[in-house]
This record gives sequence, C-alpha cells and structure tokens, in this order.
Amino acid sequence: MSRTYIKDISVHVGEEVTVKGWVDVRRDQGKMVFLDLRDVTGKVQAVVLPNHVEALGIAEKVRPEWVLAVTAKVNKRPEKNIKADVINGDVELEVLSIEILNEAETPAFDISSDGREIGEEVRLEKKYLDQRRPRIQRNIRMRHQVINYVRNYFNEQGFIEVDTPLLTNPTPEGSRSYLVPSRIYPGSFYALPQSPQQYKQLLMAGGFERYFQIAKCMRDEDTRGDRQPEFTQFDMEMSFVERGDVMKINEDVLIKLVTDLFPEKKIQQIPFPVFTYKEAMEKYGNDKPDIREDKNDPNLLAFCWVIDFPAFEKTGTDNVDGTGEWTFTHNPFTGIQDAYREDFLAKKNIGDILSTQYDIAMNGNEIGGGGIRLHKANELKISFEIMGYDDARIETNFGHMLRALASGTPPHGGIAWGLDRLLMLLLNEPNIREVIAFPKTGEGKDLLMQAPSPASEKTLKELKISVGK
Ligand code: AMO
Repeated sequence: MSRTYIKDISVHVGEEVTVKGWVDVRRDQGKMVFLDLRDVTGKVQAVVLPNHVEALGIAEKVRPEWVLAVTAKVNKRPEKNIKADVINGDVELEVLSIEILNEAETPAFDISSDGREIGEEVRLEKKYLDQRRPRIQRNIRMRHQVINYVRNYFNEQGFIEVDTPLLTNPTPEGSRSYLVPSRIYPGSFYALPQSPQQYKQLLMAGGFERYFQIAKCMRDEDTRGDRQPEFTQFDMEMSFVERGDVMKINEDVLIKLVTDLFPEKKIQQIPFPVFTYKEAMEKYGNDKPDIREDKNDPNLLAFCWVIDFPAFEKTGTDNVDGTGEWTFTHNPFTGIQDAYREDFLAKKNIGDILSTQYDIAMNGNEIGGGGIRLHKANELKISFEIMGYDDARIETNFGHMLRALASGTPPHGGIAWGLDRLLMLLLNEPNIREVIAFPKTGEGKDLLMQAPSPASEKTLKELKISVGK
C-alpha cells in the first residue's frame, strides 16, 4: 500500500493507511500498546489492540527510534479524547500490522527536549540523532526557507547564481587560509577561499553584471559562538552601481524576508538607520552597535548600516597579511570615497582616507559587509603599494586582478551576509552551531567525522610532505 504522510491522516477517517516513520514514544499498557509515530510531517498516536495478536507481539518488542511501516485503520477519537490544538488530535490509528524497517540502539540522549540540557559534545558526536529533535529540525528547515527566499528574490531581480571554485589561491579577508596540498605539483598548495571576493569581481569583469551565490567560506581563525572555520555567506555583486544601490536592494530583501518568513518579529526602524563609523564608535563604542530600544524583547530586530570606515589602519600584531606600516581595514579591493582620491593617489594622509565600505549590523552583531570596489587597475595597485607590497608580490598574488580590471571592468560593488549569523539571530539561538546541520566545535573539530585527522604515511609520501614533530 502506498505511503500516507502523517499530516494527511485525518482526511482518511474510516480508511486503511500505511504510515512510515519512527517510534517516538511507546507506552505498554499490558493488554494493549500505544505507539506515537513520527515522520517528517508530524506525529500521530497508534494503538495496538489485543485482537491483533501478531501486531501486538511486534509492538511489545519495538523501542523508541525504531523505523516502522504501520498499516492501520484511521478512527475518529471519542469526543472526550480529542486534543484540539495538536495535529491529528482528533484521530487515532488502530494498528492492523507492523513491519520493522530498522531497529535502533537506545538513543544516547533525549531527542524530545530542546537539547539545551545535554552536553554539546555528545550532541555533535551523534548529530544525526540531535537533528531529530524538533528545535534542530525547525532551524535547518528555516535555513532552507531563508536560502530559498533569497535565491528567488535575487533571481527575480535578474541576478544569476554562479558557483565559484573552492580550490584556489588565498584571497585576503584578514584571516589565515586553509591550504590543500597538490599531489601533481608537490610543494604547491591550493587555498580554500575565505570568500568568493576575487571571483565575484572577476565575474563583473566577465560581464555578468548581477551575481549571487550561497557560498561556503573557510577561514582558519579561532572560533567563537558567532564564528565557524567553515561558514556560509549570501554573497552578491552588481555592476554600474553606487553605495546606495547595493544598500537599498539588500535592505529591501531583508525586510521582505523577515516579514514573510518571521511574522512574529518586529523591525525596529525602517529604513534602517545609517551611522558613520565615527558616530558608531563615539555613541556606542563599537562598529556593530546594538540599538535595540528593548534588549529583553526576543522578537525585536534592530538593523543598522555603518558607513564611512577608514580604508587603512596601522598594522597590528594580529595582522596576518600586511607587510608594511598600513593594512586594509576590510579588504584591499574596497574603493575610496571621491573626496579622498587625490590623497590616495598621492599616498598621503593615509589614516584619514575613507572607504566605500558599508557594514550591516543587527542587535549588536555584524551580519554583513561589502563595498564599492576599486575598479581601475592603477588604483588597486596603489592600494597594495600603501600596504607595502612590492611589485613582485603584487604581480604574483594579484596580477590577474590588475589585468582583469585593465580589460574594461565596470564600476561594481556588492556585499556578503553571514548567513549563519543572520539565522542564529532570527531563530533566537545562542550560537551559530545550532543553525548549521553539521557544525564544528568551538575548537574547530568535526566530532562526527573526527576531522581533522592525521594523514596516512602513504598519503604524506605521495604528497611529498613530512610532518614535523
Ligand atoms: P566579511 O569578511 O566581512 O566580508 O564577511 C562577511 C560576513 O560573513 C560573516 N562571517 C562569518 N560568519 C561565521 N563565521 C566566520 N568565521 C565568519 N567570518 C565572517 C560575518 C561578516 O559580516 N568578501 C567580503 C564581502 C564583500 O565585500 O562583498 C567578506 O567576506 O557576518
């Protein structure tokens, strides 16, 4: 018999159906057994009565998380047993036969609770079990909905989705890159992208004009609650635009997305307020201000933009890229505001030069950042020179970018949102691990797959790599 989803059971009252799913709860009442069955669409109560001897024998044996195909008659519940506020609260299955599709070991932890009382390491080791809990199901399903929404929105606006390479060269976003050794070219390494920044600009050089991607980014940095070594950006770029154009379209999609998918949320201020970096620092002491009027309201979303960042800052001790006195505040491709172009070209008053960068913050978190880019080769070269790169380094690392800009690249700009961070806030989760299907620990470990792990002698030999002790 074909499968009926649990959500559809109530339209089959009086009929026979086959339901496939998991045993959520089993209650043995001696003469009869109650099974709460669960599938991707919901739950239903099933009862195995004493007259169905074979089914009862099986029902006595099954345990929570066993996977069953249950053929049953759909009965209306007696009036006094109806639970009006639950799906299938008005029906019950009278089990006719049970087929065991798979057995399950006793679950290592409770999956019916929200899981916050369970040690996170245990949850991560058995993530597939943890994913069965309603909170994680909701989070990952909402993640899908948000991605789908954004994809549809930008598709309708004439953007195309392009997937850019994962095996590439380092692109500077201020962190360390993960390296992947090449077997064919021993001693050479690919880098995993910290973001698709260079590729999306190259797509603008390539004439695509409107690009987006749900992009995996990898950054070898110390993880925190709002960071993962591997995370997802919603990344976009457009040609022939100014700062306000990029901000406007992103603000529009964020408002629509919140209104349509999270109707319980309230956006504090529309249009989103805009602060200069200076104002934000003076008034709030940081560049991702929390401007919520009521910090205890879990449904209040206070978005704001921060603009007018300095383009360069003095090289700090945590700088992993700059070689000179100055380094970029966001990335070296960010444009310069017109008023500062003369100083920039003359490499004067560097600390005062303001960039075309814009960040978007929400409730005290940086959820995205972008900018209008330097689209002229000579200007990008100057940006590198200000950071003390010599000609040889500029050519080796960024020669391709300079040549692409010199090939007739239009003015362009874009932004990337940290999708995990945005979801964490929209779903009121305390950290981004709760909105990622297979997250890594705070120490960057994948406890399920046990990564990272040592490579075998054979692999290392093939790669001509020797590991120091
Ligand atoms: P940026 O480095 O600011 O910009 O990254 C954009 C957004 O990505 C999120 N983010 C992270 N989320 C989780 N874990 C991390 N380790 C992590 N690092 C960053 C943040 C951040 O605002 N290429 C530029 C974008 C552009 O200019 O268009 C970029 O990557 O929410």
